Amino acid sequence: MIRPKNPAVFAQLALCFAAVLSASAAEIKPPAETHFFTGAQSCASSSCHGGGTGRNEFLVYQKKDRHVFAAGILGKGTSLKIAEALGLGEPTKAAQCTVCHSPMEAVAATRLAPEMKQTPDRGVSCEACHGAAGEWLRFHTRKDATYQQILATGLRDLIDVGGRANACVACHLNLDEKIRQAGHPELFFELDGQAALEPPHYVDARPSIGPRSWITGQATALREMSWKLSTARDERLAVRWKALVWLLQMTEAGAKELPSGEDFSAMQGAADLLARKVSREVWTKNQITGQLRKYASSHKEFSDAKADRTALRRRAEVLVPAMDRLWAALKKEGGVVTPGFEKSLNAVSMLSHEGDDFAPAEFAKALGELEAQIDSALKP
Ligand code: HEC
Ligand code: HEC
Ligand code: HEC
Repeated sequence: MIRPKNPAVFAQLALCFAAVLSASAAEIKPPAETHFFTGAQSCASSSCHGGGTGRNEFLVYQKKDRHVFAAGILGKGTSLKIAEALGLGEPTKAAQCTVCHSPMEAVAATRLAPEMKQTPDRGVSCEACHGAAGEWLRFHTRKDATYQQILATGLRDLIDVGGRANACVACHLNLDEKIRQAGHPELFFELDGQAALEPPHYVDARPSIGPRSWITGQATALREMSWKLSTARDERLAVRWKALVWLLQMTEAGAKELPSGEDFSAMQGAADLLARKVSREVWTKNQITGQLRKYASSHKEFSDAKADRTALRRRAEVLVPAMDRLWAALKKEGGVVTPGFEKSLNAVSMLSHEGDDFAPAEFAKALGELEAQIDSALKP
């Protein structure tokens, strides 16, 4: 066996082996009140997740994942300007920023394993998504432990689409409006596309995970926005909220589950139920096609000259990613002709990114052209 020169790595290697060799099934415990974090190094040895193909999650993450750099960007450029505008001092030390960009540095020291206390992980590391490993690190490698038993020790269920949406949305949507005004990019959450952008360190072979993960993500986003709006009035967010309600009410499940009106608390509960429900439902090819047609046919709403432009812009902003994910799912299913439709979808997408210059009539026209292409695109 190759011995790493770095003593910290070696200590963690020993810990990892202890994990494999640890005691009997009788020790299965419910999660402790306060799980503690063990740090990315405890996953990193070559016999755990820092090895060859199939065991290289740590290496994929370390080399390619943007989350690694999330802490670094706090030290420069835009971050310094944002922090100055808010009077936060050094952004690398401000909990208002590290809570999302480097969460282990924002965690109370009592929740860190001794090795982590000196040098907590920087950036968004493994446990930010997978859950604090204090209780499950030793346990999760046991051959006799079921997935359910491991979850009971605090591993977060990211295989469950709803669990995954909850993990990501925590950092990818609700930003303090003051931070945005100080120059932070606006945050959007769309689970399927954002998961696809991640350099893959896992294999997901489930059928039609795409549309399921898209709709679960959007329902989860609606729940979070509803919660935020129920705590304080925010006109800008309210427009985005309405657009998302519009988008989801055009789906079969959304039409059934979501109330009309502007009761944010009621919507929060309904969106939560919707997310749970759709996270378990597999989409058929027919459903994907039907939804895509329905969304394309919404071009008529964009050509209504009396409609509010900002409201339409916010609709376009959620509509395009929806169509993009449905299209990506159809391509996976096979039997579609792509170039013309894709060109059209790109054109629609460009027009949706115009921000304050958004031109509804142009968008409506492009979306109408997209609708006209659907039949020929779907011909096998
Ligand atoms: C709610 C979580 C959250 C908080 C709080 C937060 N950020 Fe962010 N920040 C994000 C996410 C997510 C992104 C990535 C957005 C994207 O690319 O879609 C981001 C992006 C950025 C970017 C742009 C990075 C780039 O590559 O262009 C900067 C700069 C930034 N954040 C600085 C800060 C600063 C400074 C603070 C504290 C005042 C802060 N952030 C607080 C979640 C957060
Ligand atoms: C941004 C969130 C995120 C971060 C950070 C992250 N993961 Fe994951 N990881 C996921 C998701 C989502 C899955 C898919 C669900 C699953 O298979 O459990 C996953 C799956 C895995 C799997 C299962 C692989 C498979 O194919 O069965 C391993 C092992 C893993 N991650 C290890 C790590 C390690 C080690 C790190 C840190 C170096 C890490 N992850 C960081 C989100 C993350
Ligand atoms: C602890 C907070 C946190 C969690 C949890 C988290 N992220 Fe992120 N994510 C960030 C921050 C902060 C950035 C910005 C990093 C940068 O720009 O350097 C980011 C960046 C990204 C990016 C790159 C941005 C881009 O547009 O290219 C993707 C993709 C992404 N996250 C997907 C996910 C997914 C999928 C999950 C859930 C499995 C997830 N994230 C969970 C905080 C988080």
